[in-house]
Amino acid sequence: LKDFSVENEPILSYRKDSPERKALQQALKATASHCEEIPIVIGGKEFKTSDVRHQVMPHDHAHKLARFYYADKKLLQQAIKTAVETQPKWDRVPVAERLNIWEKAADLMATKYRQDLNAATMLGQSKTVIQAEIDAAAELIDFIRLNAYFLKEVCKYQPISEDIKVTKNSLRYRGIDGFIAAVSPFNFTAIGGNLSYTPALMGNAVLWKPSDTAMLSNWRIFNIMREAGVPDGVVNFVPADGPVFGDTITASPHLAGINFTGSVPTFNRLWKQVGNNIDNYINFPRLTGECGGKNFHFVHKSADVESVVTSTIRSAFEYCGQKCSACSRMYVPESLWPQIKAGLQCEAEKLKIGDVQDISSFSSAVIDDKAFKRITSYIEHAKKSPNLEIIAGGTYSDSKGYFVNPTIVVSKDPKDRIMVEEIFGPVLSIYVYKEADLAETMKLVHTSTKFALTGAIFGLDENWVQTALEEFKMAAGNFYINDKSTGSVVGQQPFGGGRMSGTNDKAGGPHYILRWTSPQSIKETF
Ligand code: SER
Repeated sequence: LKDFSVENEPILSYRKDSPERKALQQALKATASHCEEIPIVIGGKEFKTSDVRHQVMPHDHAHKLARFYYADKKLLQQAIKTAVETQPKWDRVPVAERLNIWEKAADLMATKYRQDLNAATMLGQSKTVIQAEIDAAAELIDFIRLNAYFLKEVCKYQPISEDIKVTKNSLRYRGIDGFIAAVSPFNFTAIGGNLSYTPALMGNAVLWKPSDTAMLSNWRIFNIMREAGVPDGVVNFVPADGPVFGDTITASPHLAGINFTGSVPTFNRLWKQVGNNIDNYINFPRLTGECGGKNFHFVHKSADVESVVTSTIRSAFEYCGQKCSACSRMYVPESLWPQIKAGLQCEAEKLKIGDVQDISSFSSAVIDDKAFKRITSYIEHAKKSPNLEIIAGGTYSDSKGYFVNPTIVVSKDPKDRIMVEEIFGPVLSIYVYKEADLAETMKLVHTSTKFALTGAIFGLDENWVQTALEEFKMAAGNFYINDKSTGSVVGQQPFGGGRMSGTNDKAGGPHYILRWTSPQSIKETF
């Protein structure tokens, strides 16, 4: 298998008058100028149903960006049939050929379609240009390119052949008999591409249910993969109602796996359905999920205050705190609190929340009405509770778009629901601890929630850092020392959390692709 680059895709600057800035402006204009028609695609054939839906711009919800259709149960069953028939044919396509397709797709994403992906992500998911670029360009390209690289590496893992003259042992990395269901979220365009196309890369056939609120960017990925050469039927694009999709895929005997990113209740529901149907399957379906989080920043008295403030503002408020990895709770020692409080308030006030197309915006709207209601209900809780004090933000409006200002809440109770429940929005909760209670407070981080996705510690005292590494061993799947809890890079910090945050299969690392292969051991005797 030929070698190819494994470098991360560089992030473009979008400086004034740069070629990428001009290309982006054109793509934004073209994307905003019409409502894109997005069909269901099964085995290369397009379908429309009477269940019509729209994707709107979260920052301007009167503006419809795309029209799409929910696949009903019958169409989903047809997609399952198509996938099951396609899988063995696709699995016979040599790995080298599959790698060429992936390489071509990554190149198309990096060049010809980069700004189309960014524009769809900016307008459809309300990401600012830099947040779109690190997601729909860099992270997506990295997933496509680096997973292909990992496959090539994995193919090298072969068993020992003791006496090559008589017997030869080998492993071939097959797909899984049946179909994989990919259910992807709105918050990273790149995750849509990863959940659907990584199982496909490994020789599987897929039903992809994109998020309603990331439809356009995900549709663009689907088309790029087709143009790069992914045959019809390998990935089937099936927007659908969540429960209808879940019920239909789990009722099929051919379900080989679910690749999921979303909420804990939805993932739990899928597990239960799989359990209920377990006697009917031809496989034990593989369930891979990345779910919620209540990610933390823990500050020690030896921390550098400036770095704490900058990292926390970025982690908690970039993309409105809607990254799975966003910091949502913080623990600060009393001695540093006056400085950290002043720093956070000053920085939070400066953040410009507005239109995604304005390059000076720090962030924009939250994704939809449901998110707006959930997030603002926590702000209202903070306003009413005597244990909570809002020290920044606390205001919101949904008249034009779903805007919530970055909000910082100080909690006297480290177990208040604002400190332990997932909010998934721009609300940061802080508990100020007494230094005598350091050990006890560190324990609380882990014991007060069931989540364990990302976490960061800040402290320059190396002995304390060692203690923290032990104490927080199970508290986060991605752990940062003196850096923010967001911004994992494919191939550099494989991503995923344990406990109720997910099955920790580490997207963006070599372990992840192993979830989607069912290797065959072959012993040849001559
Ligand atoms: N790379 C993202 C982050 O760490 C998650 O996909 O923020």
